[in-house]
Amino acid sequence: MSQTVPLNAPAYVKHEGLKKWVAEIAALTQPDRIYWADGSQEEYDRLCAEMVEAGMLIKLNQEKRPNSYLAWSDPSDVARVEDRTYICSKNKDDAGPTNNWEDPAKMRDTLNGLFKGCMHGRTMYVVPFSMGPLGSPIAHIGIEITDSPYVVVNMRTMTRMGAKVFDVLGASGDYVPCVHSIGAPLGPNEKDSRWPCNPDTKYIVHYPETREIWSYGSGYGGNALLGKKCFALRIASNMARDEGWLAEHMLILGVESPQGEKTYVAAAFPSACGKTNFAMLIPPKTFDGWKITTVGDDIAWIKPQKQADGSTKFYAINPEAGFFGVAPGTSEKTNFNAMATLKENIIFTNVALTDDGDVWWEGMSKEAPAHCIDWQGKDWTPEIAKETGRKAAHPNSRFTAPAEQCPSVDAKWEDPQGVPISAFIFGGRRATTVPLAYQAFNWNFGVYMAATLGSETTAAAFGAQGVVRRDPFAMLPFCGYHMGDYFNHWLKMGHTVDQAPGIFCVNWFRLNDKGEFMWPGFGENMRVLKWIVDRVRGRVAAKETALGWMPRFEDIDWTGLEITKAEFEALTKIDADAWKSELAGHKEWFDKLGEKLPKQLTLKRELFEMNIFRDAA
Ligand code: GTP
Ligand code: SPV
Ligand code: MN
Repeated sequence: MSQTVPLNAPAYVKHEGLKKWVAEIAALTQPDRIYWADGSQEEYDRLCAEMVEAGMLIKLNQEKRPNSYLAWSDPSDVARVEDRTYICSKNKDDAGPTNNWEDPAKMRDTLNGLFKGCMHGRTMYVVPFSMGPLGSPIAHIGIEITDSPYVVVNMRTMTRMGAKVFDVLGASGDYVPCVHSIGAPLGPNEKDSRWPCNPDTKYIVHYPETREIWSYGSGYGGNALLGKKCFALRIASNMARDEGWLAEHMLILGVESPQGEKTYVAAAFPSACGKTNFAMLIPPKTFDGWKITTVGDDIAWIKPQKQADGSTKFYAINPEAGFFGVAPGTSEKTNFNAMATLKENIIFTNVALTDDGDVWWEGMSKEAPAHCIDWQGKDWTPEIAKETGRKAAHPNSRFTAPAEQCPSVDAKWEDPQGVPISAFIFGGRRATTVPLAYQAFNWNFGVYMAATLGSETTAAAFGAQGVVRRDPFAMLPFCGYHMGDYFNHWLKMGHTVDQAPGIFCVNWFRLNDKGEFMWPGFGENMRVLKWIVDRVRGRVAAKETALGWMPRFEDIDWTGLEITKAEFEALTKIDADAWKSELAGHKEWFDKLGEKLPKQLTLKRELFEMNIFRDAA
């Protein structure tokens, strides 16, 4: 037996099963010491100071960006790695054709080999966290073991993390065990490494039946902050299917009218397709008295719940406590609320460092700084950028920010009951084909629309960018089981509530023949959102099309925006030829799902095809 390191569990940890598990992981990974995170400010400051000392974090100018830091990652470790992400269910068919699969026993062997002694020379941190408000009936607890102090401080902002979790966990509570190692070989250059990781070997592994997560080799975002995509989506989608709820890649926002009427909607857009921006939207000036409030920007847990009048409706909570948002493109103009959120207490990752010790990224300001240090630590000037095309900030650079700092945060964002959802919105990044907005005829048609959602790939995941792929429900990389079963679950969930939300599709990203966005986006999206709210409240008209109900020019409030009827026609045009090939794409995608594809969706596709051909005729 290898050497044992003292467990160091604080007295408030009463859970013997948990202590035993931590001891087992320590025996496997052989850290030099074990540290239990308490989640205090003192601890956060201390860990950040240690990372600054070690060269892993840069402390930003305290006047310009109080209590904020900048991390630059290894170029091999800048985004989620979908081809290294596994769902290891007992049967391959339970993971489905869209997930990588490996036999759990075989995977455990592989990982045991990799984790053996992998924390030697390092500290093993034990990080207790709650997804959802502590003690909420919808919340779930996880314990992440990690050898990355960067992960610890990020988890403090992104989740309810620390000693208080043990008040809920008690001596025998359930938790999802999450094991993470940067998997970096401890070499002679260790001291110089600003972002140790394993550049060659990465595994992001989920065991859905035993609700466990193991992650090796990466320290970045969703690969390493295991409460986020691994737990709150891949594992939680399994819990949700078994228990009758939904775990979704959705923002949640509130729309407040001048009369104080409040309507909540949840919207799913694929990674880097506009959730954070939509969740924090500021309406155009002419929308006097209208206000958008933010409940969440990335993940929603949604459950059918009885209301005071006895009827049942979907209620949603944001299981996170912070935003891990895309930096490039974020400016006072495009997302004022995000910029205000970023004033202090922020960890920036892979953005550029300005000469006065602040941060910059493409799109933050019209004028680029005359000089800065780019995310790879190199000198950067606008001239260098022009010559080489090198970006100052990585396209997937991000900020980690506490949600409570957001000026638009909703009064109920921590309400353990959640907020009632009146509409679901689905949208992708589509240069062609998909119109600005339309409403599905009914729940099942809406499920079809979401199930066939397409979007161009972005920098949020490693691999080619700008390629249209099917990203059903914006969940392709995040559904922890067979997509066919997931569609079936959604069809069934429509019957669990008395008032099923309306289902809408939007596309902010249509291009004209010069390659420019046809739609101004951002705050102007309010015009479409208001139409959606008015639709679910039954007070605005629409016209029937092959895709569903579409706004006519006169159904949208255009005050303050110069847009011609012709431009609107172009934005909402249904090109029958484009839709014929789109439908062929849907068929190809459905064929891939095989037996588990609900028959209902095949029928919907045929009906849809008939509508398109009828309109084209
Ligand atoms: P994840 O955090 O990866 O899940 O992404 P997200 O869906 O929250 O995306 P986010 O809101 O961060 O937007 C990603 C990029 O799209 C940013 O560069 C935004 O500036 C840009 N974007 C967001 N909304 C719009 C819009 O309405 N129009 C246009 N043209 N771009 C937008
Ligand atoms: C996404 O890729 O959808 C994100 C960022 O929100 S990550 O946390 O890395 O998954
Ligand atoms: Mn996301």
